[in-house]
Amino acid sequence: MRYNPFNPQQPARPDFFVGRAPEIVEFEKFLSQTMHGSPMNMAVTGNRGMGKTSILVKFEEIAKAEKCITLRLSNYEGNIADIIDFTDYLTLNLKREILSKKPLKQNLGKAFEWIKSLRPTLSWKEIGITLEQKQIVQEFLRESLLKLWAEVKDENPAIVILFDEAESLEKIDGALSFMREVFQRLSAEANYTIVLAGKLNFPERMSESFSPLNRFFPCQKLAAFQPDEIENYVRKKLSTEKVGVNIDAKALDYLSKESEGHPYVLVAMCYLIFDSLNDNENMMNMDVINRSKAKVKAKLAEDFFSPMYHPLTPKAKEYLGVIAGNIKTVDFSFSDVVEWTKMQGSSISPYIQELLRKGIINKPERGQYQIFHRLFLEYVRDKAK
Ligand SMILES: Nc1ncnc2c1ncn2[C@@H]1O[C@H](COP(=O)(O)OP(=O)(O)O)[C@@H](O)[C@H]1O
Ligand SMILES: [Mg+2]
Repeated sequence: MRYNPFNPQQPARPDFFVGRAPEIVEFEKFLSQTMHGSPMNMAVTGNRGMGKTSILVKFEEIAKAEKCITLRLSNYEGNIADIIDFTDYLTLNLKREILSKKPLKQNLGKAFEWIKSLRPTLSWKEIGITLEQKQIVQEFLRESLLKLWAEVKDENPAIVILFDEAESLEKIDGALSFMREVFQRLSAEANYTIVLAGKLNFPERMSESFSPLNRFFPCQKLAAFQPDEIENYVRKKLSTEKVGVNIDAKALDYLSKESEGHPYVLVAMCYLIFDSLNDNENMMNMDVINRSKAKVKAKLAEDFFSPMYHPLTPKAKEYLGVIAGNIKTVDFSFSDVVEWTKMQGSSISPYIQELLRKGIINKPERGQYQIFHRLFLEYVRDKAK
């Protein structure tokens, strides 16, 4: 079997990472501030497959090169249900990361000491969460983080916490403001920086009003790749040892247009096109692309579009179907939907919100919407057939 250099299932390896220069510059600036005792944080938002996890992996590499203690976390399995879980999860993982950097003998004794000093989760849970108790948890977390900082500060300039799938934290009542309060108070005494990544709602919801969260976690929105970044990505991958395959200009152009620069769609297409090469072929061109089209369509539907479509509520699916049936490009306005569905704006609005929240549509400006990808639109149309 020929080795396929494209892999849509994994985040980008830092050595094959392309683009995102503005976000990286911003991170490096904030990291440097933090290392100099003036911590700054940030947030990265984007729809599914836009490269949030990949950029955190890249940030991790950058921070490690600066000798920072770096922790990449996520609430993927939904283990965190409240701020108490969050506190336990954060302190334990940070402690583990710090211990893993130390010689083994020291580890055991220290781990034991630490575990003794932790309050049992049960007694935490019994106190429940009232305002006063929230302050107790806050104080405990702050003290733990200060202690951990004291353990490492002679050898490490900062502690970097990269939190993926942060939309799950956003759903926990008060969790983000809890984090903000803890880390804001810590900032005078300890060099912690936090990066949240996820399909975040707070930057959009509060963009027009005064918002402490927006100021504490200034948000970068990941955009589609430009054609030169796509070319860069594909050539980098193909130049990997042992691949021995090239790509021609027409195929690159096709990839740019068809993927619309969406990172996941691009990588999935590359994987499947490469997979359609015969053993004696060593050029990705329109021949092999044409041969792979049916497979690309089926696989994108199965792996990417269907898991986005199926969790929608029946009403949202119904309105999406109407939109897909009437729309010319991917763009539409709120009044278009009113016209097409012949419904009151107020009864449509919740479902437009749902489509927005679930990343099915984007909102480039007030009252204007966009299906997130043309191929998704085709998928919805096919379902109606
Ligand atoms: N900057 C990048 N450079 C190269 N490949 C990328 C980049 N960003 C994303 N990808 C690719 O796109 C796909 C989706 O990226 P991922 O980081 O998992 O997205 P998200 O976490 O936003 O869902 C992965 O296969 C990854 O390899
Ligand atoms: Mg991800």
